[in-house]
Amino acid sequence: MNKIIYLDAAASYQKSESVIQTEIDFLTQNYANAGRGICARAVAVDDMVARSRARVAGFMNARIDQIVFTAGTTDAMNMVANMIPMSARTKLLVSDIDHHSARLPFEQKVLARAGVINVCALDDNLNIDYKNIPYADVFVITAMSNVLGMPQNVADIIKAARDKNPNVITVVDAAQYVVHEKIDVRAWDCDFVCWSGHKIGADTGVGVLYVKNPDRFQPVKFGGGMVNKITENKIIWNNPPDVFEAGTLPLTQIAGLAQAIDELNQNRPNMGLIKYAYDELQKIPCVKILSQREACVLTFVVDGMHVLDFGALMGARNVCLRVGNMCASWIFKLMNRDGAIRMSIGAYNTIDDVKYFIKAVKEIVK
Ligand code: ALA
Repeated sequence: MNKIIYLDAAASYQKSESVIQTEIDFLTQNYANAGRGICARAVAVDDMVARSRARVAGFMNARIDQIVFTAGTTDAMNMVANMIPMSARTKLLVSDIDHHSARLPFEQKVLARAGVINVCALDDNLNIDYKNIPYADVFVITAMSNVLGMPQNVADIIKAARDKNPNVITVVDAAQYVVHEKIDVRAWDCDFVCWSGHKIGADTGVGVLYVKNPDRFQPVKFGGGMVNKITENKIIWNNPPDVFEAGTLPLTQIAGLAQAIDELNQNRPNMGLIKYAYDELQKIPCVKILSQREACVLTFVVDGMHVLDFGALMGARNVCLRVGNMCASWIFKLMNRDGAIRMSIGAYNTIDDVKYFIKAVKEIVK
């Protein structure tokens, strides 16, 4: 037997048979383009996209016109960085729990305009210190670090930022948060939220961008499907969300996304497995755990062993983990480390997977 023990849902979640079947059915029985055709099949695809959008809106407590389909979190973050007007006076606030995809698009933009970048304080547990939020014009908020796995207090963080500047534009990276915790954009009172379908069991290539005030922003991608009318001296865009969705959407992935949301609503990953693994790893003297017991991932290092060597040895035992700096350089700089080993789970993982993982760790470090 060559069974893979996949403990890397935080990198990309495994797909259920029903998500795969939904995509197969769409491709083999219902496929056509959306927003362009008038034949029955094309209209049915429009209906499918509308149903998926409604499912996403309900999932986040948003309105339908606030939900834009993107290619993923990175695409959405880059879009938002281009949508928000920035100048030399813009004060950008970021934090050291940011993933590269959350921070770099904004940092690049602000640097190019000679704006100011501030890094907000983290508390002793490396969570965003919402009691010490400085003034910001644009605030990138990582709702859950992909390295440390703690849900951030997004509502209080945003409230603190608005107390300093009522006009602050808040951009939430929910790529890691979305699979574990309910997103409520009204309770958060955020301006933008980005996440990727593949982190919740949908396919790669589809993501979601929530825009609180879609009428206040201009499109940053141009092409088919976004134009209402072009006259000699004027272009009239389509209404949101279409105006932000130039080109053909990832239709197959959008079909799968609705199914993945339905399944996630029934069955979220069991955090008891992370706590079990935490308690077992803590008994091994050469293992140093960097994440908290309550976290949604388990991140650790092994004394005297490079994380890549450890990952390769676990891989040789058919255990899939993430190792390295996980595209989150700033938190590692703060912790004075080059990288770590991360174990993460989906709803499909079992206690036997975790026991196998613990056994493999013990074999390697003995
Ligand atoms: N951002 C993903 C991770 O943390 C890829 O693994």
